[in-house]
Amino acid sequence: MSNEKALFCKLNKPEDVETDSTVGEKHVPVIMVPSVLKTGEFYDVKITVGEIEHPNENEHFIQWVEFYVGNVYLGRFDFAPVMTKPEVTIPIKLGHQGIDTTLRAISRCNLHGLWEGKVQVKTE
Ligand SMILES: [Fe+2]
Repeated sequence: MSNEKALFCKLNKPEDVETDSTVGEKHVPVIMVPSVLKTGEFYDVKITVGEIEHPNENEHFIQWVEFYVGNVYLGRFDFAPVMTKPEVTIPIKLGHQGIDTTLRAISRCNLHGLWEGKVQVKTE
């Protein structure tokens, strides 16, 4: 099985990728959010894909991004190639203290499969 096909068999994470490869840097979602969130207030969470810009062509593109708090699904955003960029801003409000405050995003590339990025926030 080629390496590219193996990528489709699992949820890929940055730590899974060989250090001499840029495949992770092009696919792992990047989540931008303040590090401390007050419960009950909305904050914008911006999600882009890749520290290095991913190709955006009909033959190779990011198909969608899903967004979670912990394991709680919050939304899915589909992208068309060329005319859109895999970038989205979502207002979120965390209502409870003590919940899992790991923000997670999963992207899917049509050639390289699923990729997870995450960031931990604090609530107060
Ligand atoms: Fe890709």
